[in-house]
Amino acid sequence: MDVFVAGGYTTKFGELWNIDFRQLGVEAAIGAVKDASLELEDIDAIYVGNMGASRFAGQDHIGALFASELGLDCPAFHIEGACASGGLAFRSALLDLLSGSSKNVLVLGVEKMTDVGISTATTALAGASDEEWEAFYGVTFPSLYAMIAREHMRLYGTTREQLASVAVKNHSNGSKNPNAQYRNKLTIEQVLHSSMVSDPLTLMDCSPISDGASAVVISSSTKSNVKVIGSGHAQDSLALHDRDDITTIKATRKASEIAFKQSGINHKDIDLIEVHDCFTIAEICAIEDLGFVEKGMGGSYSENGNTQLDGELPVNSSGGLKAAGHPVGATGIKQIVEIYHQMKGNAGERQVKNVRYGLTHNVGGSGATSVVHIFENIRR
Ligand code: COA
Repeated sequence: MDVFVAGGYTTKFGELWNIDFRQLGVEAAIGAVKDASLELEDIDAIYVGNMGASRFAGQDHIGALFASELGLDCPAFHIEGACASGGLAFRSALLDLLSGSSKNVLVLGVEKMTDVGISTATTALAGASDEEWEAFYGVTFPSLYAMIAREHMRLYGTTREQLASVAVKNHSNGSKNPNAQYRNKLTIEQVLHSSMVSDPLTLMDCSPISDGASAVVISSSTKSNVKVIGSGHAQDSLALHDRDDITTIKATRKASEIAFKQSGINHKDIDLIEVHDCFTIAEICAIEDLGFVEKGMGGSYSENGNTQLDGELPVNSSGGLKAAGHPVGATGIKQIVEIYHQMKGNAGERQVKNVRYGLTHNVGGSGATSVVHIFENIRR
């Protein structure tokens, strides 16, 4: 059965004081349904990716909330996989379509993180690590990824400048994305000299705390030029200390292998990727673990400009999590909407030429969950 991304929509990402959790989700959901030229009644099921509404907005029962707000009585599910909630929701919706149960499925990713203070937000995010062995001792996500960065530097000689080059490139792409949280360009010096968050990661090595929502309609009956050709999902240990090598996310390796096998294409065919750059080191590990770059070479590959919009492998044309923002449950769907816009030729100033194949990579926690999808532009 062929499955298409029939419509996509992303709200502005950022610190959005004038819109609440449900309004954000509804805006994205209606936007995606309209973009697919469908009516709400055409939707057979709703999958909502959300990590922390109960802590950030005091709201549970998220599937029911959005079905109710949209006036629908179809099945509605809340999918949670930390920062990979969006990607997992997409995969669950895909399996629903492939089972033949539904023809048009709405997949919504939504998060409203800025209505609580930074300490509550950091604690809520840390809930995606191992509470007993990590969070309890004060470990936060910046510190977990700082440990990964230190080890990558020790093993492969990765430098602070190489990490910074990821932020510089993603802010440059974000400056071309009207929905991005940060549209300011950065220099290497600015990244190196911004406040230290967790050594060696500075403020500009980190994705921000964000509000935002993204939605797609995927369909087996409504065709578009954007076809889903591969889907992989795998798990690794929840705690970082249980890994043989903390610089390698085995779940990403496995999810990528599954998705590529299903797609029938290989790495050289891919024109554009959106990866999970929650911290600059995460993008470097991602391009290695997905199999695009030899292990240990991600830093120099980025520093040499290969991942820029006009480079050999454009990475994160949206601005990534770093500049576009990271409303955690929405991120995985935003990545797919970006590939969708690129394949429709609607990416404006950040349009990559001749995109035939694109890939998305969404990670939960420090790599316990990884979801990879591959798309083909069948009209190219
Ligand atoms: N990138 C760029 N600018 C950022 C930023 C980021 N990540 N985070 C905050 N800023 C900016 C703010 O807009 C603000 O600018 P202004 O003074 O011009 O208004 C300034 O920096 C200070 O922001 P503030 O809100 O006080 O920052 P903070 O100290 O509360 O939070 C971090 C900074 C890095 C701690 C926070 O962004 C964070 O925790 N990021 C990681 C999120 C995370 O772990 N996600 C899950 C990943 S697995």
